Formats: sequence, structure tokens, C-alpha cells
Amino acid sequence: MNVSDSEHIAGMLQASGMKRGACPEESDLIIVNTCAVREKSEEKLYSLLGRLESIKKKKGIKVGVVGCVAQLYRSKLWDKKPSIDFIIGPDNYRQIPQIAGAPSDEKVILTHVDSAWHDQSAQKVSRDSRVSAYITIMEGCNNFCSYCVVPFTRGKEKYRPFRSILAEAKGLANHGYKEIQFLGQNVNSYIDPETGEKFSDLLKASNEIAGIEWIRFITSHPKNFTDDIAHAMKNAHKVCHQLHLPVQSGSTSVLHRMNRGYTRKDYLGKIDLLRKLMPDIHLSTDIIVGFPGETQEEFQETMSLLEHVRFTNIFSFRYSPRPHTTAAKDEDGIPFDEKKNRLIQVQTLQKKIQLENNNSVIGHFQKVLCTGKSKKDPLVYSGRNAGYQVVNFHSPTDVLDRFLRIKITACGPFSLFGEIEG
Ligand code: 5AD
Ligand code: SF4
Repeated sequence: MNVSDSEHIAGMLQASGMKRGACPEESDLIIVNTCAVREKSEEKLYSLLGRLESIKKKKGIKVGVVGCVAQLYRSKLWDKKPSIDFIIGPDNYRQIPQIAGAPSDEKVILTHVDSAWHDQSAQKVSRDSRVSAYITIMEGCNNFCSYCVVPFTRGKEKYRPFRSILAEAKGLANHGYKEIQFLGQNVNSYIDPETGEKFSDLLKASNEIAGIEWIRFITSHPKNFTDDIAHAMKNAHKVCHQLHLPVQSGSTSVLHRMNRGYTRKDYLGKIDLLRKLMPDIHLSTDIIVGFPGETQEEFQETMSLLEHVRFTNIFSFRYSPRPHTTAAKDEDGIPFDEKKNRLIQVQTLQKKIQLENNNSVIGHFQKVLCTGKSKKDPLVYSGRNAGYQVVNFHSPTDVLDRFLRIKITACGPFSLFGEIEG
């Protein structure tokens, strides 16, 4: 979501006459788009702002902080870093060009929250890719998982009209885009504010757009991932057989304390249905270890779930307390070293599973969308397969932004290597 928001902000600034700077030292304006979901990203912000202060002293540049940390701490950010010029929350990005371009040095704060959907900048997006595009379909979250700060920064769920989403997708297809990725904190609960159409209807409708070959979406919630979505994934042939379905924990009692609204059995039931409908589906997930009060037995349930599901990829985190959340009110009772140890156990197990999974496709042919070029070696390219795995390969000619048929010849736990067919 933040990558996409940054593309929108850059697009609006370019439309107002600004140019993208090569690095902070060569820029007159620096906008830091922030994430508040974990403590670590917040810490990174403060150290970055420290570095930017020294550039600011030399050159008198403007520095703005936007995004979820801006929304969370509002004017309190000035207590920590008085040098910040403007603080702007996610619902106020449309005002950035005006504020950033203003000649005055007056400090500005905008953290108003919209309750309804407003298109932030329909046409002015500076996308990093010419072939794969993010399309935001909803924002906010009503779930209040007990560890999560997002409902306090992005506010309540609001949904973009179906017709506006489809118009953007068709426009992208007309400009040569081949892949679209629907974005939202909780895409499965999408409902068209005008017609009541659901997320599965959106998958079906976007499947009809000529030119688009791959459709993906992120993030799903097991509680809202209903059977109609699984069936739409199977039947709408452009929707990749790939799903990021954050489980967070394999233990029903921890899931209950997390306020996730499903049990281990519910989650595994959804996985069974998905695999029955799409035996080739690639699944990924998020895991939190060391949630307050997580016992050894509860932690082992996460380990056994990983062994059972054998995800293609996972994102795993040490629990960190976040402002306003109910879990942060409890003492977590788990020593830092124990949390670290559990994280290592999760990552070691998953690495082994991924290496086994990846080894099993050596010799197979895969469709890959080439999305990047190595900076070190001009003949090395990278792309993603339908399962959203990274595939690296050599090519003597420029194949950027093209679909290719790649024979997988080698692998590591985190990526595949292959050769272009022919
Ligand atoms: N501590 C650790 N991980 C967290 N996440 C969200 N909040 C926290 C927290 N307080 C993780 C969840 C979520 C992902 C985006 O970040 O796994 O799915
Ligand atoms: Fe946070 Fe839970 Fe909402 Fe995801 S579903 S954004 S984890 S509150």
C-alpha cells in the first residue's frame, strides 16, 4: 500500500511541475512515506530524519513526513523532530503538491480522516513499472486485531466504487499493462458503495478486461475469505493461483486473544478448499511470534501449522507492542531472547520447506513476467511466476516487461533460477 501511495504522491508532484531527484542530496524536497505497523519501521524513520537534518542544515531543503506514523503521532512528531516541515496523514495526500510547493516556511499539519472514499488522484500516478500496476480498491480496517495499529491510522473501511476501479484497470490495459494487483488492508470485505457488488464480483468483472493477463490481490483476511472468492479465483482464469492469507498464529487460543475471528481449524478448512479447487495454488502468510502470553505449546502449534501447510513464502515478525492497541496493555511476559529464538525457529523451518518446495520444480517450465534488470550484470533479469516467486535468468536481449517461458534449472530457498526457452 505504501509503495502504491508513494507512486500516487510522486505522480501528483510531477503533474505540478516537479521532477524526481536522484538522491536526497540532490533534492529540494524530501517526503518520507511511513509505516507504523511495527516498532522497527518507526525507529528507521527517526534515524532517517536524523540524517536528513544534516542535509537540511546545509541546503535548506523541505522535509515532509506522510503516511501512518504521521497520522498516529500527529503534532507530537515535532516534539521528537522539530525540523519536519509538514506532517500529512493518508487521507490528505491530494494537498501535498500545494503544501510542498508553497514558497513559505510555515509548518503544516493535515491529519483529517475521511469517512467515505475519495479518489486521491485518478490519473496522475508515477508508476515504477510499465507492465504491472497496483490498484487501490479499499482503505482502512474495521477488524481491530488486538496487536494492530492500522485501524487507528487508516481509519474505518471505505470502498472505492466498482466503476472507478474497472475504469482504472481498463485504462491501464490500454496503456499496455499486463498485470494488476488489487490493494487494500482487507480486500475480501470489499463491497461496492453504489451497487453492493462484492469482491468476488470484482474478480469476475476484471477477468473480462482485454489485455490484462494476470490479476492478484492483497491483503486477504481468513475471516472474510469466503467460498465465493475461492470459486471466483478458480473460475476467473486470469486470477493467479496465488494467495497471501495471513494466519498470524497456529494456535486457536492465541488467535482468540488476537481477536482474529477464526480458529486453526477454520483456517485449515479454507486451505483445504483452496487446494481442492486449485491444486497448483501458491500460498503465503504472516506469522507473529511471542504474542503476549504465548506458551511453548501455543508456539509449537504455529510450527506444526507451517509444516502442515508448507507455504511458498512467509513473512514472520517478533511481536511488538503498538500504541492504542489492546494487546499493548498486557505485559507480554516473554523475554526478548525467547521471542528472538522463536522467530529463528520459524524462519529455519520455513527455509527448509521452501528449499524442498523449490527443488521440486526444477526442470519445470513456468510463465514469468520480467519486471526487473540486475544493476550489477546487464544480462541478468528477474521476474515473478504465477505464484509470485522471484525467478532470475540470463538474457542477451532486453526482455523487460515481457512474459517469458522459463525452464527452472536451479533454486535457493527464496528464489528460482532458470533459462529462457529457446
Ligand atoms: N507486532 C508484530 N507484528 C505485527 N504485525 C502487525 N502488527 C504487529 C505487531 N504489533 C504484522 C502482522 C501483519 C503484518 C502486516 O505485520 O503479521 O499481518
Ligand atoms: Fe491490522 Fe487485523 Fe486489520 Fe490486518 S485485519 S490491518 S492485522 S487490524
